[in-house]
Amino acid sequence: MLEVRYHGHACFELRGEEGSIIFDPFLRDNPQADVGPEEVDVDGILVSHGHSDHIGDAVEISRRTGAVIVAPYELAVYCQEKGAKAHPMYIGGSHQFPFGWVKLVQAHHGSSLGGRYLGVACGFVVRLGGKTVYHPGDTGLFGDMKLIGELYPLDIAFIPIGSTFTMDMDEAVKAVEFLKPEVAIPMHYNTFPVIQADPEEFARRLSDSPTQVVVMKFGESRNF
Ligand code: NI
Ligand code: MN
Repeated sequence: MLEVRYHGHACFELRGEEGSIIFDPFLRDNPQADVGPEEVDVDGILVSHGHSDHIGDAVEISRRTGAVIVAPYELAVYCQEKGAKAHPMYIGGSHQFPFGWVKLVQAHHGSSLGGRYLGVACGFVVRLGGKTVYHPGDTGLFGDMKLIGELYPLDIAFIPIGSTFTMDMDEAVKAVEFLKPEVAIPMHYNTFPVIQADPEEFARRLSDSPTQVVVMKFGESRNF
């Protein structure tokens, strides 16, 4: 069984029998977040890119708990310099951690922090709690989402819908058609005025799809 908890924006916490991870822990400065970084206790921290709404409080959580940050090479090295424990990887690479299997996949996006270039942005496919889950990070639509869905049949896909910095609603709907996950959960919307979107519209537009859309409230927890 997999427990998924949504902390708002792109931050999801996953808990299975093997352990626990958090994606993109943007908490302290996230108006949607239901917890602060001091409350997070996980084994792995997966960071898709260096933008502040994704790296968030990753270094602080790693330093306090000893959780390992998994990120593209340049970003992982940056986190190590700041005193975090990190495991550098790159797109195409996979690794079996004690807390689950992690693969890095492409994302069409940038990665920098305070003017420092931090490599490329990525997405993640993880296996944990008996489920296969795709977190695309920040990205626009790309045709190889079909390939990701084919290679790693997905139980759950988190889908950015907020536009401006990521896919807009039209592309988000098409992404679900490409990925064919059992469940799609919208993310990366309504955090800031420039990424307003209606998750119920996303659900409506996919109501005839074999994929079930689950709109999670901020702070909500669900078992899959
Ligand atoms: Ni970004
Ligand atoms: Mn973002």
